[in-house]
Amino acid sequence: MSTRVYNFSAGPAMLPLEVLEASAKALIDFQGKGFGIAECSHRGKEFDGVADEAIARCKSLLGVSDSHEVLFLQGGATQLFTTIPMNLAGGKSADYLVSGEWSKKAAAGAKEVGVTANIIATSEASNFDHHPEATTWKLNPEAAYLHVCSNETVHGNRIVDLPTHAQLIVDASSEFMARPHAMDKIAMIYGGAQKNLGPSGLVLALIRKDLLATIPDKGIPKLFSFRAQAEAKSMINTPPTFSIYMLLETFRWLERQGGLAAIEHVNAAKAKLLYDAIDQSGGYYTGTVIKPSQRSHMNVTFRLPSEEKTDEFVKQAAKHDMVALKGYRTVGGIRASIYNAMPLAGCQSLASFMHDFKAKNG
Ligand SMILES: Cc1ncc(COP(=O)(O)O)c(C=O)c1O
Repeated sequence: MSTRVYNFSAGPAMLPLEVLEASAKALIDFQGKGFGIAECSHRGKEFDGVADEAIARCKSLLGVSDSHEVLFLQGGATQLFTTIPMNLAGGKSADYLVSGEWSKKAAAGAKEVGVTANIIATSEASNFDHHPEATTWKLNPEAAYLHVCSNETVHGNRIVDLPTHAQLIVDASSEFMARPHAMDKIAMIYGGAQKNLGPSGLVLALIRKDLLATIPDKGIPKLFSFRAQAEAKSMINTPPTFSIYMLLETFRWLERQGGLAAIEHVNAAKAKLLYDAIDQSGGYYTGTVIKPSQRSHMNVTFRLPSEEKTDEFVKQAAKHDMVALKGYRTVGGIRASIYNAMPLAGCQSLASFMHDFKAKNG
């Protein structure tokens, strides 16, 4: 195998080598049965065991028992931007905090299915260089739910402490299981798997049971109904079996790391290395998030003095086995995505490269 580089892609992103190896093995031969896990029926006992174990480990990692149902959904997190209002608006409007590209798309998804999205606050005027503080939010008491994106992948800001709201829905795509989640505050949490958890196309979602009970029988196509999916153990049709298997391997790996509190600790240390490199560069590197307390621990975004230097930075870093550092087109600069699978050594290597690059090009 060629050397694995430090891959700073925002997603699909780096996965732990142990997860990839165990999944590759199971793809060829599942538990010595002479067939692989992608080659057996989702209605058979082999896959049923995988699904049960994935649900159990997911709940255990998140510290929930019977309060929430675990769903494996398809169509990416984007599909949930429309299925959430379809399932949960119940003829009312819904509140959206718009703090970046993804929460803006989530609000647009509500409008697509005829649900009024109340923008309770937005930082779009300053290109989402922060998220508006809770004291400025204009919550609507009639709204069916409040939707927030806890980590904005493109703009690099995060909500450290979730607000208290009876019907809080969280898009946690780019930080799912990168830290403990306050499940006691959360009515629904969801995320595309392709950052911290597994391959793209699969969405992990947890929804509180009382919310499930409010979903009507009629008016929502069965395949898009969270209630119908929960009743069918996410198997109304054939689920993405191999992706769910990889998810299970990721859960096992997370447990071996010591669980979510332990991984949060490592992630904070990784992020600190990069933010220190920015803050100690004498202004050569500028963070795009203006409030340090809101800086993402997953997507570290910063700019260099010019486009030319940015391009050179990306090119030179690739020569040192650090790839996929170019920022999103609407933000520019650099985005280093450092999900759970990025080792501390990857961040050390990037921080040291940043220091050397500035010394040579400053
Ligand atoms: C925070 C967030 N939400 C939603 C999405 C959309 O995910 P998908 O491409 O799986 O639909 C992304 C993708 O990067 C994301 O970062």
